[in-house]
Amino acid sequence: MMFRKRLENINSYKPGKPVEEVKRALGLTQVYKLASNEIPFAPAYINRAIQKELKNINRYPESGCFYLRKAVAAKLKVREDQIVFGNGSDEIITLALRVLIEEGDEVIVGYPTFLIYEIQAKIEGAEVVRAPLRNFRYCLDDIAAKITARTKIIFIANPDNPTGTYLNNKEIENFLSRIPASVLVFFDEAYFEFAPPDFPKTIRFLKERGNIIFTRTFSKAFGLAGARIGYGVTTPSIASFLNKVREPFNVNRFAQVAAVAAVNNGKFLNKVVTYIKREKQYLYKELKAHDISFIKSATNFVLIDFRKDTASLYNYLLKNGIIVRELAGWGLPNLCRVTVGLHKENKKFIDCFKRYLNK
Ligand SMILES: Cc1ncc(COP(=O)(O)O)c(C=O)c1O
Repeated sequence: MMFRKRLENINSYKPGKPVEEVKRALGLTQVYKLASNEIPFAPAYINRAIQKELKNINRYPESGCFYLRKAVAAKLKVREDQIVFGNGSDEIITLALRVLIEEGDEVIVGYPTFLIYEIQAKIEGAEVVRAPLRNFRYCLDDIAAKITARTKIIFIANPDNPTGTYLNNKEIENFLSRIPASVLVFFDEAYFEFAPPDFPKTIRFLKERGNIIFTRTFSKAFGLAGARIGYGVTTPSIASFLNKVREPFNVNRFAQVAAVAAVNNGKFLNKVVTYIKREKQYLYKELKAHDISFIKSATNFVLIDFRKDTASLYNYLLKNGIIVRELAGWGLPNLCRVTVGLHKENKKFIDCFKRYLNK
């Protein structure tokens, strides 16, 4: 069989190891996963909605996410036809590339950043132009300087993964004033709910400029990673193209009802954000106490700069039932990323880390 030539040089995305796999492989009964930036507790308030929906499992879901669309549009004060729902916000990345990229078009990504932009861009036949991060932050001047007549999309993870840093309103406003209308600026805001108050008013920029899409997800602060649901907000015209290329039933019924229950549950969201903030401070404090460098984070994870190869640290933690994220695949062998978990999980991580340092 003749597969697409361009697939030869594409490395698949390697997700954080699942708890079940580590339990099986190492014969452990208790494993803590601090590797995929999920929140550490499941939202119980969605149970009734899911239970109620079970009786409809033999029927396809509504293709347009009717109730969820109304709820999100009202919450964000945007038009319903500006929203595109996806099987996770990841899917919106793929859809944006699919509607814009002709062979050889250019896509600008930060480096290192969330790897999906680069992988999906290559699959769609784009030339990927990397703009290296400086001091763990996106360098917007460099990105603007890299724009050519072939540039179609600029991907910006804000806040960023794996660094946890963010770009503020002023920085983004200045940046956007330099971007031609022919280029789509894709703001991936998966960690929006954890970001500080000077975070960009992306909705306002979208209204003013048009050549913008921003994505948000129910996977992180809302605790629905297992349901796979996220969305993009853009102009009605761009949204209509994205809808043209998406699969008709890309968001299943359970994800839809769970997300409807989540959208306006400020109480759960507050609880999550407060918990994560507090536990992040605990991690900062402990890391500081042991003279371990880390990057201050606007998300629910912390990037640790170990200043030497983390492979043996990673394996030590794994044997002790703690999964963190190695970053060798990002070209960052001295760094590891730790998701903020429950207090007992964070404490176990810190205790193991200390034991490793004293070995
Ligand atoms: C920057 C960023 N974007 C998108 C995603 C994926 O989100 P979703 O679960 O909505 O596909 C992640 C998940 O880790 C992420 O870190």
